[in-house]
Parts: sequence; structure tokens; C-alpha cells
Amino acid sequence: MDVTIIGCGYVGLVTGVCLASLGHTVRGVEKDQRKLKTLQSGHCHIFEPGLQDLLNETLANGSISFTDNVKEAVKDAEVVFLCVGTPPKPDGTVDMSFLESAGKEVCDALSELKNDWLVTIIVKSTVPAGTNRKLYNFLKQQVPNAYYAVVSNPEFLKEGTAVQDCLNPDRIVVGGESPEAFRMMRRMYDPLVKREENFMTMNWESAELTKYAANSMLAARISFMNELTILCEYYGADIEDIRKGMGSDTRIGPAFLRAGCGYGGSCFPKDVAAMEHISKQAGYDNLFVRAIQTINENQKKRFAQKIADKLGRPIEGATIAVWGLAFKADTDDIRESASIDVIRMLVEKGAKVRAHDYKGAENMRAYLKDIADKIDWVADPVTAAAGADAIALCTDWPQYTTQPFRKIAATMNSPIIFDGRNCLHRDVMRENGFQYYPMGRPPVEKELRLKQRN
Ligand code: UGA
Repeated sequence: MDVTIIGCGYVGLVTGVCLASLGHTVRGVEKDQRKLKTLQSGHCHIFEPGLQDLLNETLANGSISFTDNVKEAVKDAEVVFLCVGTPPKPDGTVDMSFLESAGKEVCDALSELKNDWLVTIIVKSTVPAGTNRKLYNFLKQQVPNAYYAVVSNPEFLKEGTAVQDCLNPDRIVVGGESPEAFRMMRRMYDPLVKREENFMTMNWESAELTKYAANSMLAARISFMNELTILCEYYGADIEDIRKGMGSDTRIGPAFLRAGCGYGGSCFPKDVAAMEHISKQAGYDNLFVRAIQTINENQKKRFAQKIADKLGRPIEGATIAVWGLAFKADTDDIRESASIDVIRMLVEKGAKVRAHDYKGAENMRAYLKDIADKIDWVADPVTAAAGADAIALCTDWPQYTTQPFRKIAATMNSPIIFDGRNCLHRDVMRENGFQYYPMGRPPVEKELRLKQRN
């Protein structure tokens, strides 16, 4: 099919490249000239495992191309994805201006082209219930004679596994009112529909709420486990054993039950907050989503406080190596990363921070400009730990588990690790002489042999 993608940011580019790899003819529209040039020269402007390879392949066989010209891009289009930003406004409502102007530009082009087939305009963005209907009404009023339908098609990609998620979706949700548009969507996604029941059509509002509900439920599972770490630490239980014990119940399932020092990213914090906001608009106080957020904030505070409490010396003047800045492994994205609050709290308590990440350091450095004098940016985890009073692990990069811990312990002022992601091995920590504090798991504690500072 002929597919146009308006906005080649994260979601747009992954969607476009994946659809091109399935055999569709995809035209990506990008107005940012720097990004456009990068894409036209065959390079991804974002880091996502597998995406560059797929882009090379689809550019080489001509199934994808990039332009800044909407009219040219929609000339033969049967479906047009709107993958533009829908940022929250200060009052909590969504800024629809990008969606409206992109939609209007597409409809203006369609009305000039006067093609005789229905074009399905697809909204991928996560938007509050009612937004697609509003967009449809807005476009109908602005461009009454274009022939199109609007559908909501929320995406469920995870950063770091976006290509794989896009090509192997658990389900495809399509919200709208036009049976013809539903049929087009079914046809476009045909190679990805393994079972008919995994392709779901519903009204706009249900599709929009499905997305918020899914992210809120996932965040709720994490917050539930995070709060449980308090009980585990008090009673000497192990959250990992509980996770396995609970998760093996098929009604519960094992996914998204890993406790840590707080969830982050560009989706969970935003979507849970939006759920609270749309609940208020509907006239009630959503206690559940409020609790999810409060627990997440508390978990980051508890982690920073645990570091101060267990350090064996005053936190003021201490040096803490922070391992991991990205909001999760395999991404350079630091948006709402737990490490932001953890670093700020450590600095507020008077600590100096040595920060390391495999991909996110540059972004974090730009973000934490206001406390730049309190942070050293270090290129590798071993150097970050040398002479430090403790390591605080905030991101689950697998590389952290294979560090030369004996060597690291020997170079630290005091070998203490606070594992905010429960990704290190207790026995390895003990054998290498570390005092080890995971989240909701029994610690390894012993008399510390503090080195004399010069
Ligand atoms: C999330 C959802 O998982 C996707 O399905 C959704 O499409 C996406 O938001 C979105 O709305 O665009 P993403 O933000 O990329 O994806 O990252 P996740 O892998 O979900 O992780 C989010 C946060 O939860 C990370 O900070 C991660 O460390 C944390 N997490 C995840 C836990 O603390 N425990 C877990 O068990 C899983």
C-alpha cells in the first residue's frame, strides 16, 4: 500500500521503516532540515537497535523515501500517519496545534488532489479521550471537501525494542467510525496480524483510553512492586522471589514486576499524570493513578536516603559514582529518568557525583547544567568508582554486571554498592568485598575497611 508518514521522529521513523520492510511504499515527511538531510543521506537521527539496518535495506530497495513536501508525499497515499508531537500544556491539557496543522496540511493537499479514493488519516500519538473526534470535526470544518477518515491507532512500542515490538505487536488497536477505514487498516497490517482477535476495532475514545490504561496499568505494577520493597526490607523477604512467586500465576503474569529506584521515560510519567488530569476533568479524583505517581516519587527519595543512611560517613562531602543515567538500558533517552532526581537529591545532601552512562551522558550533561559544578562526567564505570565512597546503580545496562569488581573495590574509598535495579549478583558482590544494598532484597553487610583519604 502507499503509506505517508508525517513527522519522522521516534514513532514516525520506526513505523515508516517497519512498514517499508513489510513491502509497503512509504514516504516520510520531515520538516526539520537537519533531520531530513540525515535521513536522506541514509542515517537514523535516533538510536534504536536494528533501525539503521532496516533503514539501509528499505532505502536500498526503494521502499522508503524522505521529503519535506506534504503535497508530493500524499499524492498516491492510501493511509497517512500523523506522527507529530502532542506535548502537555502547563494546565495539563494537550497541545493539539501540531496535530491540527499537520492534519490540515494533509487535508488541503487531498482536497487539491481530488483523488477518488478514501484516505485514512492515522493518529499514532497518545492523546486524551475525545481528541481524535475533535480533530475530525476540526478538519471537517476547515476542509469540508477532502475525502478522508480519521482513526486512532495507539502505538505500544518500547524504546530499545521498538523495531521488534513494531514487527511483532501483541495487538493492533484501531479506533474510529468508518468501516472502510477499518478495512484499510486491516489490509495494511495484514502481515502483522497473526490471529484475527489481535486486530481490534472500537470507537475513538476507547482506543485513546486503551493506551492510557495500558501504560497506567504497567506503571501500577511497577509501583506496586516498588512499594513492596519496603515490606521486604523490613521483614527480610526477597522481592525477586516474590516476583517469581506472583508472576508465575498466569492471571498475573511475570512482565513489568521488576522493582527498582523508580520508573521513568517519556511515556509512563506523562501518561499516568494525564490519566489523573482527564479523571479530574470527568469530575473525580483518581486515587489509584495518584498513588502510582506518589509511590514513584517516594521510591526515588527512599533510594537517595538509603545511600545517605548506609554510607558509613556523612553524605556531605562524599563522592558517589552514579552508574546509569538513561531511563533504562539500550537508549540515550534520559527523559524523567530516576537518576535525575537521585542525582539532584544527592547533590542537595552535599555529595559530589561522578556520572557514567553508555549512551545517555551527553543528554544528561545538557539537562543538568544548573548543577554542573557538582558532577564529573566520566567515560567508564571503573574510573567513575575510583576513590568514590559508594556506587549508586540507576540504569540496568547489562555491561554493569560484568565489571571487574575486585579491581573496583580496591580503588574505592569504601566498597559499597546501592543497586537501584537489582541487576548485580549478591554472591559476586560478597566475594569481591562489597557492602551491597539492592532494592527489597537482603543486603550484604559487613564491617567496612575504610581507606584513609590523602
Ligand atoms: C512504555 C510502554 O512499555 C510501551 O508499551 C509504550 O508504547 C510506551 O511506553 C509509550 O507509551 O510510548 P518505554 O517508556 O519505552 O515504553 O519503556 P519501558 O520499557 O516500558 O520502561 C519504562 C520504565 O519502567 C523504565 O524506567 C523502566 O526501567 C521501568 N521498569 C520497567 C521497571 O522499573 N520495572 C519493570 O519491570 C519494567
